[in-house]
Amino acid sequence: MAAPLTGIRACVFDAYGTLFDFASAAQRCRDVLGEKTTPLTALWRDKQLQYTWLRSLQGQHADFWQVTGEALDYAVDTLGIADPGLRNRLMELYLTLDTFPEVPEVLRRLKAAGLRTAILSNGSPRMLEAAVGNAGIAGLLDAVLSVEAAGVYKTHPKVYQLAIDRLGVPAKEISFQSSNAWDAYAASAFGMRVVWCNRYGQRPERLPGAPDRVVRDLSDLPALLAD
Ligand code: LAC
Repeated sequence: MAAPLTGIRACVFDAYGTLFDFASAAQRCRDVLGEKTTPLTALWRDKQLQYTWLRSLQGQHADFWQVTGEALDYAVDTLGIADPGLRNRLMELYLTLDTFPEVPEVLRRLKAAGLRTAILSNGSPRMLEAAVGNAGIAGLLDAVLSVEAAGVYKTHPKVYQLAIDRLGVPAKEISFQSSNAWDAYAASAFGMRVVWCNRYGQRPERLPGAPDRVVRDLSDLPALLAD
């Protein structure tokens, strides 16, 4: 176990890929998607993120529900998937994605240790409310923060600033958790302490910032921060 991070008062989590498993939407449509299940998940996610970055650069914000739908349309088109009901089915499933199994207990332990907890996500307020409700973790979170309040996507510094402003805790006393390496590095460059939850076994980014700790899932987080 790595050395604990000291002086942390609040734990802020990325949502998709960190708390909620975005791959679960396509997996639940395996009956239709078959061997295209995994390629669809990858292309859908890649396009979704690219569109957030491109729209932010262009100053052409649209919320994450729209971006997620447009990325899905691109992916379905590219993979030659023709099923008229599939778009609605996948989009509805995005509202009830699987929660990674360790998440509720980890949040419970962090709360018990007196830490404040929050989500900071690209997701629209409606998407986040649905995911949090489905996971049954609303009572374990002090705040659910959407980039919609900043009008721009990660990795704009305005997004990370939202957590400081809403929680009233300085960046150095926040531990930010993301499975998205680019998000973890950006939060670190912004000044937060960062635990990169490297669920997908990715290589380090070559970007500004450096996560303080790396874990494979969130199970070790309470011991790193609170115990
Ligand atoms: C989010 C995306 C980046 O939840 O996973 O913000």
